[in-house]
Amino acid sequence: AMPSQDELKKQVGYQAIDDYVTSGMKVGLGTGSTAAFAVERLGMLLKDGTLKDIIAVPTSVRTKEQAEELGIPLTTLDEFSRLDVAIDGADEVDPDLNLVKGGGGALLREKMVEIVADKFIVIVDESKLCDALGPGFPVPVEITPFCHEHTIRVVGDLPALKGKCKPVLRMGSSSNNQNDGDNIAVTDNGNYIVDLVFDKPIEDAPAAAAQLKNTCGVVDHGFFIGMTTAVIIAGQEGISVKTP
Ligand code: A5P
Repeated sequence: AMPSQDELKKQVGYQAIDDYVTSGMKVGLGTGSTAAFAVERLGMLLKDGTLKDIIAVPTSVRTKEQAEELGIPLTTLDEFSRLDVAIDGADEVDPDLNLVKGGGGALLREKMVEIVADKFIVIVDESKLCDALGPGFPVPVEITPFCHEHTIRVVGDLPALKGKCKPVLRMGSSSNNQNDGDNIAVTDNGNYIVDLVFDKPIEDAPAAAAQLKNTCGVVDHGFFIGMTTAVIIAGQEGISVKTP
């Protein structure tokens, strides 16, 4: 039988831990349905003694809770500003291995953790691969609640974005893009998310990323440019690894 999407996610989640984590490492743990399998595998290998002396930094409250249940020792970047490896999923991966992340609303903590890892390993099933970032998945932008309508207008008017995307404030009872409520979704950091909906490929994602980062009221954005060490991809044909 063909493996289900869930089985593909499990394959890459397990493989990332098996291939990139050794005893004594400090490990960043991503967020989402794919990263959850990596967390599961790390818990298993610690429990059976295959791995020892691991300390992990979670990228969301959800991941922290999962890791705690599995008995994975946890810390924060306040204790260590350098990690050996971070492992996380992605919403889109382009041919240069630039990413869109934050569908699960955890983009700020993910970026803070993954940017200080010596290796950032991305785990995806093949549905996440795209020719260009943009049309396949909205780009999440974390903004402060203060005057958020103003910030959304400013974002929509940035030169790299004006007339090219529709900014949509994320609603829902969590920031986990469930869209299951009438309330504005709130991130783990108490902020809001505006999803930039593109119908065409983004011509210059690095320019859009830089302009967003320079906008007052924007905390961070879901473009992860030039950060990827390797992508592990699971498809119907098996597992492959891509490096930049
Ligand atoms: C969380 O904020 C996101 O960046 C996730 O890493 C991304 O959405 C991938 O999640 P899935 O593995 O559930 O698709």
